Amino acid sequence: MTNLSAISAKNPILLMGCGKMGSAMLAGWLEQGLDTGAIYIVDPFLEPIRNTFSKLKDNHLHESVKSLPAKISPSFIIMAVKPQMMDEALKALSIYDISKAVILSVAAGKTIHYFEDQLNIKQPIIRAMPNTPAAIGKGITVCTANKLVSDDQKNICTTLLETVSVVEWIDDESLMDAVTALSGSGPAYVFYMVEAMAAAGESIGLSEELSKKLARHTVSGAGALLEASDEEVSQLRINVTSPGGTTAAALDVLMSDEGIAKIMRRAMQDAKARSKELAG
Ligand SMILES: NC(=O)c1ccc[n+]([C@@H]2O[C@H](COP(=O)([O-])OP(=O)(O)OC[C@H]3O[C@@H](n4cnc5c(N)ncnc54)[C@H](OP(=O)(O)O)[C@@H]3O)[C@@H](O)[C@H]2O)c1
Repeated sequence: MTNLSAISAKNPILLMGCGKMGSAMLAGWLEQGLDTGAIYIVDPFLEPIRNTFSKLKDNHLHESVKSLPAKISPSFIIMAVKPQMMDEALKALSIYDISKAVILSVAAGKTIHYFEDQLNIKQPIIRAMPNTPAAIGKGITVCTANKLVSDDQKNICTTLLETVSVVEWIDDESLMDAVTALSGSGPAYVFYMVEAMAAAGESIGLSEELSKKLARHTVSGAGALLEASDEEVSQLRINVTSPGGTTAAALDVLMSDEGIAKIMRRAMQDAKARSKELAG
């Protein structure tokens, strides 16, 4: 808890939006022993939060920014609302002096420039891009910051996000479009691969039910093996590929010039271009 010791009742965290991502992070912070007196939450629907996190102090839970105690001075404001709700959430904050707080956004596609523009004051801002496995503590997040964020603040941010994911930092924000194309959208590619494997299993004679079950468990099991292993992923592939065997026959197709590598490159180029377009 070394980095989180900087977060205290005097310099609390304000979590704006406690849905899937917000509550996954909150669960991690509480597990790490973060003092409940150091956490304020704003979310329009508090009932499920009260039920799940009974330890939280009731007077730290607010349906809107308006009822927050005026004297709180958050060290971090974590913006975990949907991107389309961000304008409204930031506008609500404008009634407070938040100039000392680091704004940490986990919203897809919202650039540092967007926050600088909306807040209209010089403010330390961190843009983080987590992916959906963060909801079960298995995500990977890439962060980038403006020049006003200190190394200490970056370390605290890393600790806050490490509760749900592995954390990487990049200096060049323009790489966020490529990050979005790989780790942001990536879980969907893997889910689609499960669907494709299940459909292919049916096409070679398996029942729908058995094929779906085999595909799902093969991918989740392979993922767990990958996580548990120190070997290069290519070595793990080689380990299960006997020369001239069944796996080799399939990989001859998948690794051909027209195979997965080419399709993946095209798919990710399109995802990157779309990410750039959406960020404006
Ligand atoms: N879920 C993921 O795996 C994932 C992955 C990567 C990035 N993200 C990012 O994380 C952010 C949150 O996503 P999510 O999936 O957690 O969404 P979510 O489950 O809908 O959570 C957002 C929460 O914010 C609340 N909210 C709406 N307007 C608010 C306001 N003005 N002030 C305070 N709270 C407000 C919502 O309440 P209501 O439901 O009552 O409106 C909801 O509880 C998004 O920006 C998304 O891009 C999520």
